[in-house]
Amino acid sequence: MSEIFSKSMARNIYFGGSAFFIFLFLGLTWHTVKVLPETDNSAALTEEVILGKKVWEDNNCIGCHTLLGEGAYFAPELGNVYKRFGNSTEAIKGFIKSRPVNGIPGRRSMPQFNLSEEELNAIAEFLKYSSEIDTSNWPPNIQG
Ligand code: HEC
Repeated sequence: MSEIFSKSMARNIYFGGSAFFIFLFLGLTWHTVKVLPETDNSAALTEEVILGKKVWEDNNCIGCHTLLGEGAYFAPELGNVYKRFGNSTEAIKGFIKSRPVNGIPGRRSMPQFNLSEEELNAIAEFLKYSSEIDTSNWPPNIQG
């Protein structure tokens, strides 16, 4: 191996490296644009799901929960709660209605939100919609 690191070697590494990463960047951009339409489930955005998002925001659910990783870490991740509850919107509604359950030592408790039947349906549909977003199987386990 040559002992001398010449100017031309440095230049080749500089231009070669730049070209490599520019092509890598363009390739990954092309791939993302290609697969994006396959992940689009905006057709599932019904009026109910939209109302559910409003209920979610008005009651600051994200103040305690995460949704697909975003939010607070006080309470369980809800992006996959629909699947965790056996693909059941009824189970989600039942859970929200039956809060709070106090008196279990060491267990955090969720407050009662007194949601109307319409709001409960909407929030359950919103959580169902969230669970069907293609996240490339994230989070990796069903516990969230
Ligand atoms: C003050 C904090 C707080 C807020 C705000 C809150 N939650 Fe919770 N939530 C909790 C806690 C704590 C648990 C876990 C309770 C338990 O397991 O008994 C929980 C559990 C849940 C679960 C069951 C999750 C599981 O995997 O067992 C659902 C569904 C849920 N919350 C929905 C909601 C929705 C919808 C909202 C907004 C309307 C909301 N939460 C707002 C604290 C909160």
